[in-house]
Amino acid sequence: MRRLGFTASGIKYEGPQDGGMVGIEEIRRDFPVLRDWVYLDNAFVGLMPRQVREGYDRWADEWFNFEVGNRTILDGWLEKAGLVRGMIASFIGASPREIAYTMCTGSGLNIVINGTDWREGDNVVFPEWEHNPLETHTTRQNGVESRVWRPRDGRFEVSDLEKLVDDRTRLVQVSQVSYVNGFRADLAEVADVAHVHGAKLLVDATQAVGAIKVDYKRDGADYVSVAPYKYLMGPAGLAFLYVDSESIEELTPDRTGWKNQIWEGAHAEAPTPEDTAEKFEYGTINFQGVYALEESLKYLNRLGMDYVEKRVLDDTGYLFKRLDELGREIWTPEGNESPVVSFAQEGAVKLAERLKKGKIKVTGREAHGGHMRVSAHFYNTRGDVDKLIEAIS
Ligand SMILES: Cc1ncc(COP(=O)(O)O)c(C=O)c1O
Repeated sequence: MRRLGFTASGIKYEGPQDGGMVGIEEIRRDFPVLRDWVYLDNAFVGLMPRQVREGYDRWADEWFNFEVGNRTILDGWLEKAGLVRGMIASFIGASPREIAYTMCTGSGLNIVINGTDWREGDNVVFPEWEHNPLETHTTRQNGVESRVWRPRDGRFEVSDLEKLVDDRTRLVQVSQVSYVNGFRADLAEVADVAHVHGAKLLVDATQAVGAIKVDYKRDGADYVSVAPYKYLMGPAGLAFLYVDSESIEELTPDRTGWKNQIWEGAHAEAPTPEDTAEKFEYGTINFQGVYALEESLKYLNRLGMDYVEKRVLDDTGYLFKRLDELGREIWTPEGNESPVVSFAQEGAVKLAERLKKGKIKVTGREAHGGHMRVSAHFYNTRGDVDKLIEAIS
């Protein structure tokens, strides 16, 4: 028996994650929604544990009660943002100066796209099923060609990517985990293909961080954009962008404000140093989100990402097996270790509505001929999966 010995909800967790479920029941008590619901829709929005809510409360209390003294409340908020920046960095295998706070995944992606020095005839490559594909007003206005990487049987093959990338490719985009079928990209392989041609790798990791172990330095990603309201369990309206140290200086900030360029009179004073990703932050940060994110990261660090990933993959591996036994057409490639599993379903939206009436929450999508998307987190159990399977059998 593996004993984890962390404290969630003030009670010592004793592990393990098999039959007994003593520990997992204690964890589940931190998530009130789980009292009534089989919640397998973390790829849509994750659940918030009470500790993250306490982070929000702490921020509100501090502001409500602050003493107007020498040190401004903004100083305190900025200090907290610096501390949490360090926590984010160590969570994803980066250094603090490689992290910029943003508002959402899309804002991070646009900072990269708008800050790239395009030349007519450049191209970008992105998967067919990307949530926020790389083709934007900026790429269109700059005469940048879009090349679409198509899947085969639910997989985006690196051998197909190799045929699309050439010396005019500036950015290759990929989601680490696909929001459609959970396909998990091998980032190191994709980075190699991009780098051979001098292109950069831009990753959307919103369906990955908090569910599976990540290390972007190891993988060689150049840019990674993440929103925390799914597997990081909050907040919404605050996100972050990782910019590899070697790419920070060549990426131009696409917007300016007091935070990255202070103007007094006719001259810009005290601009943020060129060699830190903080230069992409131009105004007031979503500080309450920072307080919440501190608690999410603390919670996950207490559990340990080994444990979290193991639980997530146990649930989705088990789901895959049960769907296979039912003879369902599974859209997620076999052996794909990811928090998301999808399967073909006629009338998917209606089925999701029916399941909801029975207090089972998953996503039904009509796209691509109709499919159900099921997504697990560490607080889910095989029992949740059994209830879902029973309801769709
Ligand atoms: C892969 C992926 N990226 C990003 C988002 C959300 O984008 P944003 O944070 O810009 O709202 C989602 C939401 O479902 C997603 O699945």
